[in-house]
Amino acid sequence: MCGIIGAVAESAINPVLEGLGKLEYRGYDSSGISILSNNEIQTIKAQGKLNNLKQRLSMQPIEGDCCIGHTRWATHGKANVTNAHPHQCGQVSVVHNGIIENYLQLKQQLMQWGHHFNSSTDSEVIPHLINHYLAQQMSQEEAIEQAINQLKGSYALGVLINGASKNLYAIKQGSPLVISEGNNGAYMASDAMALGPDSGKIYYPKDNELIKLNTNEIKLCSGSANKKIHYINNKHCVKVISKGDYSSFMEKEIFEQVDLLKRLSVNNHTGEYSTINFKNLNKITIIACGTSYYAASVAKSWFEKYANILVEIDIASEYRYRSPIIIDNELVIFVSQSGETADTLAALRYAKNKNCQTLALVNVANSSIAREANFTFEIFAGPEIGVASTKAFTCQLAIFYKMAIEAAKQRAFIKNVEVKQLALNFMKLPYIMETVLQRCTDMKKIAKKLANYSNALFLGRGALTAIAQEGALKLKEISYIHAEAYAAGELKHGPIALLDEHMPVLVIAPKNTLTDKLLSNIQEAQARNAPLFIIGDSSIKQHISLQENEFFELPEIPESILPIISVIPMQLLALYTAQILGKNVDQPRNLAKSVTVE
Ligand code: M6R
Repeated sequence: MCGIIGAVAESAINPVLEGLGKLEYRGYDSSGISILSNNEIQTIKAQGKLNNLKQRLSMQPIEGDCCIGHTRWATHGKANVTNAHPHQCGQVSVVHNGIIENYLQLKQQLMQWGHHFNSSTDSEVIPHLINHYLAQQMSQEEAIEQAINQLKGSYALGVLINGASKNLYAIKQGSPLVISEGNNGAYMASDAMALGPDSGKIYYPKDNELIKLNTNEIKLCSGSANKKIHYINNKHCVKVISKGDYSSFMEKEIFEQVDLLKRLSVNNHTGEYSTINFKNLNKITIIACGTSYYAASVAKSWFEKYANILVEIDIASEYRYRSPIIIDNELVIFVSQSGETADTLAALRYAKNKNCQTLALVNVANSSIAREANFTFEIFAGPEIGVASTKAFTCQLAIFYKMAIEAAKQRAFIKNVEVKQLALNFMKLPYIMETVLQRCTDMKKIAKKLANYSNALFLGRGALTAIAQEGALKLKEISYIHAEAYAAGELKHGPIALLDEHMPVLVIAPKNTLTDKLLSNIQEAQARNAPLFIIGDSSIKQHISLQENEFFELPEIPESILPIISVIPMQLLALYTAQILGKNVDQPRNLAKSVTVE
């Protein structure tokens, strides 16, 4: 992942630091900048959060009109200052997002040529290679192109060269990159959201297009030298997003879900979904990673149950390497909040190569996945800042639910009156969600108890198994409590061996057709002394005695929308448990919001 940014403008450090703040979701192990100041490249780096770098810079202010910056998610080498970017060799400084797979061979070669390396990163070979070719009297453009010809892997680069002319170069292969021409400067970044207000016009370069930015112009160099850059409007030129009165972005995003779903339930995008001919589809395959994959899992149950469509789901990193069987009239859907997840993007390219019809479900319009799929539907969750995905998940589910309604209509698998009921349930959704959120203090009591354990087992049944999995993922991500989720029926096939007084079991047990089955699973856990936590219907309490810090009561919820509502208590539980344990819920350790490396 990592975020890169560059600016050629007066006081270029300001847009770079502001942009780094917006890119911190990509990694926060370390950060750094290089700036051309008084005909010299000055590089300042700091370990840890961006604030550490800002503090260093406040003690040592520097001015200059050409600057690059980086925020790191460590792949090669520990998260320390030496491994922080930019990496410099002579008059060349580079920020890199991606992975150079053949860096070891290149490093050995460069060392034989007398180069000395400081870091253990893969990225440091890049400035060394460029410097090597510059020393052979190549032009700046030629030296960069020669260098990148040697690289295997993925990269988006910002290259600052201190030469006769002051230039900043940008180039990418497989990793996201955006260029922007403003009224007061020229900019490059990993993500359009990182660009400041002076960036109304943007351009997404193609792989290996070398772009030169300087105070006079932005120019396509090399093979595409005579091509004009065709800019588009920057939809992401947004104001700074604040967390308002909430303790964290994650908390704000959890409570925002009611309004988002109100908007989605009144906005009639169904017309848009009717562009898909569900009637003729033989199969839908849904591909995603992490939380988005659990949304796919719930979607599968809806498409199958209400529209009788065969649905296969897969994790993107598996799909692209497993020779999937593709059939006629198959639609492959790619779900991604960021639209930049490397594995999902690679899986999309794989499916397109196999001539599949592809559809993207994304939160970030203009993202790589949105741009490359045949069709794109937005989920309209608005920028999600918390690394742990919450509102994007419920909005993904909402769009899938609407698509399933459209599919049910077209395929006439269920009666018209049932289709109408599904739509009615959807209208009720935000109001039921509001009731659940109003009970958040009950969840704080449960979190207080759960925070005493190091492990937890989450159980659900049917579509709610995916919600148990999503709940376990949320808890792991931000509280670092180890949690695993199972379809409750699987308990006795193995995980039951783990149960004793140290292994709490959390069960999602709302009133539905599977409640009785779940009751047996709950009793099996109780018989093994496992501490129980139930999120469910009050009728459960007639069978099992539970304290108030063990039970979260769900209101009556129509079965079709249960997955969308049941995830709310899981999100709250993870949030409060992590807060009780004093964790940083917005920026959990080792994670990044957008996973742009394989
Ligand atoms: O942007 P994407 O939806 O493609 O991201 C996929 C996963 O990386 C993401 O959902 C991750 O699992 C989140 N941290 C979950 O909270």
